[in-house]
Amino acid sequence: MAQETRVLLEKLGTPDLLTVKGYRAAGGYQSLEKALKEMTPERIIEEVKKSSLQGRGGAAFPTGMKWSFIPKNSPKPVYLCCNADESEPGTCKDRVIIDENPHLLIEGMLISCFAIGSHMGYIYIRGEFHRGAQILMMAIEEARREGLIGKNILGSGFDCELEVYRGAGAYICGEETGLLTSLEGQKGYPRNKPPFPAISGLYNSPTIINNVETLAAVPSIIERGGDWFKSMGSEKSTGTKLLCLSGHVNKPGVYEVVLGQMTLREFIMDFGGGIPGGRKIKGVIPGGSSMPVMRDEDLDVKLTYEDIHAAGSSLGSGAIIVMDETVDMVEMCLLLAHFYEHESCGQCTPCREGTRWFVQVVDAILKGEGHPGDCDLLLDICRSEFTSICPLWVAAVWPVRAFVTKFREEFEEKIRNGKYGKKDQPAAMAMAG
Ligand SMILES: Cc1cc2nc3c(=O)[nH]c(=O)nc-3n(C[C@H](O)[C@H](O)[C@H](O)COP(=O)(O)O)c2cc1C
Ligand code: SF4
Repeated sequence: MAQETRVLLEKLGTPDLLTVKGYRAAGGYQSLEKALKEMTPERIIEEVKKSSLQGRGGAAFPTGMKWSFIPKNSPKPVYLCCNADESEPGTCKDRVIIDENPHLLIEGMLISCFAIGSHMGYIYIRGEFHRGAQILMMAIEEARREGLIGKNILGSGFDCELEVYRGAGAYICGEETGLLTSLEGQKGYPRNKPPFPAISGLYNSPTIINNVETLAAVPSIIERGGDWFKSMGSEKSTGTKLLCLSGHVNKPGVYEVVLGQMTLREFIMDFGGGIPGGRKIKGVIPGGSSMPVMRDEDLDVKLTYEDIHAAGSSLGSGAIIVMDETVDMVEMCLLLAHFYEHESCGQCTPCREGTRWFVQVVDAILKGEGHPGDCDLLLDICRSEFTSICPLWVAAVWPVRAFVTKFREEFEEKIRNGKYGKKDQPAAMAMAG
C-alpha cells in the first residue's frame, strides 16, 4: 500500500508552528542561517539546479534554471513574486502551507531572494484567502521583529523585505504576467512574452515568479542538499509533490508523495480509500481542470510528470479530480467551459470568442438542440489553441478537446437525444404530421 513521504508537510501538527518560536523549535530557519552565512548566491542556485526541482505551479519549469536567467549586476532592482493565487479548480495545496506552516514559505522566499539578488519579495495571494492573508501578515510581522526580515538579517548584512498583496479573485491573475500587472495596480491583463519576467517583469525589472510549493521546497534542499532531493522520485520528477485529491473518493485531501513510487490508480485507491459506493471510475483529471481528462483504462500509469505526459495529459498543479460512472461527461465539459468563459480577460479574439462558443455549443447539445457536426465543430474551434497572449486559451481548449475526443459517444448520444429529450422533435413531428 502506497505511503505518504512528508517533507513540506513534515512539521504539521507541531505546537505553535504559526509562531517564529514554534517554527524554530521544530528546526525552522536553520536553512536560512546556513544559506546566508555559509553559502553564496551562486552555490544556492547550483544546489537548486542539482535537485532538479520543477516549478509546482503547473508548467513544471526547472526552478534553478529559471533563477539563473536573472541578469547579473542588474542596475534595476530584482523582485521575487510568490504566486499564491491558487485558482486552478481542484487545487488546494498551497493554502495548506500558508495556513499551517507560513514560516516555511517565508524562509523559502528569503533564501530565494538571497540567491537571485533580490531585496523585495511579494506574496500575491488570492482575494478569497482571508485567513491565509492574515496568517502570512502576522507571520511576516513577527519575523521582522525577530530580525529575520528587514535590515541585516541574522547579522549577515543581507537586507530583504516581504509583503503580502491580496488579489481580487480573478483566475487570470494566477497567470504570471497577469499577476504582475495586477501587482502593479492595473487590470490583471496578461502581457506578451518575450520579454520574459526574468528580464522585464514587475515595473519592467528582472522578476522571478514561483509557486508557493516551489518556494517551500527550497529550505529542505538547502538543509539536506540537492542530491538528497534528487534521490527521491524518478529521473525527471524529483522530490516530493503535494497532490490534491478531490471528487468521487472516500477520503479527499492533500497528500505528499514521492513521485514514481505508485501508479495514478494506486494513488487514487490507496489514499482516496476507494470510490463511494464501490462504483467504477469513469474519468480522472490528473493536474487541475486545464489538463486533459483520462479514461479509467489509462490510469495504470506511473505517477510522474513524464509518464502522465506520455499518456496524453499532465500532472499540472497536482490536482487530481476523480469522476465516477454517474458523471455526465457532457455536463462536466459544460461546467469547465463556463469557468473559462467567465475567467477569460477578453484581450484575444480566439479566447474571448472561443470560450463563449464552447459554452453555446455544449449547452445546446445538452438542451437537445445539438447538430450532427457539433463534435467536429468543437474540435475545429480547438485548432486555434496557440494563438493567444497567455495560456488561458490553451487551458480552455485542452479539457474540451479531451472530453469530446475521449467521451465522444456520450456527446453523439446527447446530440441525437439531448439530456431531457430532443427540442426540435415536437416541431418536426408536427410538420410531418
Ligand atoms: C490561466 C493560468 C492560471 C495560473 N494560475 C496559477 C496559480 O494560481 N498559481 C500558480 O502558482 N501558478 C499559476 N499559473 C502558472 C504561472 O503562470 C507560473 O507558471 C507559475 O506561477 C510559475 O511558478 P513555478 O515555476 O514555481 O511553477 C497559472 C497559469 C495560467 C496560464
Ligand atoms: S488568452 Fe484569454 S485570458 Fe489570456 S490574454 Fe488572451 S483573452 Fe486574456
